[in-house]
Amino acid sequence: MLANIRETAAWLQARTALRPEIAIVLGSGLGNLAKQISVVDAFEYKDIPHFPVSTVEGHHGRLLFGHLAGRPVMAMEGRFHYYEGYDMKQVTFPERVMHQLGITTFIVSNAAGGMNPNFHVGDIMLIADHINLFPEHPLRGQNLPTGPRFPDMHEAYDHTLLQLARDIAAEQGTPVQEGVYLGVSGPTFETPAEYRAYWRLGADAVGMSTVPEVIVARHSGMRCFGISIITDLGGENIHTEVSHEEVQQAAQSVEAPLARLITEFVARLD
Ligand code: HPA
Repeated sequence: MLANIRETAAWLQARTALRPEIAIVLGSGLGNLAKQISVVDAFEYKDIPHFPVSTVEGHHGRLLFGHLAGRPVMAMEGRFHYYEGYDMKQVTFPERVMHQLGITTFIVSNAAGGMNPNFHVGDIMLIADHINLFPEHPLRGQNLPTGPRFPDMHEAYDHTLLQLARDIAAEQGTPVQEGVYLGVSGPTFETPAEYRAYWRLGADAVGMSTVPEVIVARHSGMRCFGISIITDLGGENIHTEVSHEEVQQAAQSVEAPLARLITEFVARLD
């Protein structure tokens, strides 16, 4: 595993002169942001040694190196989901490589179903914390030397970064929600009983990604910031029917303000 991580990092470093310290996972809704990155080098996942290949509809598979707000960044256009059949080591392999490349700030986005009754479709939710309900843990097995065997998770999402995002959202007049993201494997969307149960567990939104990535990023000492776009609702009294198409449409509707927020966020990172 370590040898593969190093090999992939070396392969990339031989092909790009950029040495970013910021990485962004462009989930649903951040397609617009990709357009604002002035790309210097782009690599198809299928060409990168040891990288899994993304298969899900509507997700591209490219690793971008470029500049956003004048800062060097690395961005994943499309991610690896557990429901696609990858194991957790594959799902989180890119974060391992990021650490090896010197990334210290990890920004992640996703589409999620909202359970909080104050949420609406199209809301932007800053992720304050998460609940891990994936059936496999990304750190299971031999511990890699990037972090301790039993990593602390009391501040999985960096408080300073969260405050920065709140400040920027207020300045830009973009309303944002805040909440707990619960990660499940999918690929089924939740039954009404499951949405109710997750809300009662303490989660505000549910989705099929992000949690494993953040766990590995934290284990590697990166500070993490996450955003969910609420693409559908599953509350106590809401009868929901949800499709992948609806999720993508709702995510696209907030692409512009979200891209503005993240661009300014990156500009102001210390
Ligand atoms: N549940 C799980 N994952 C999701 C949802 C949802 O309601 N919406 C978008 N991704």
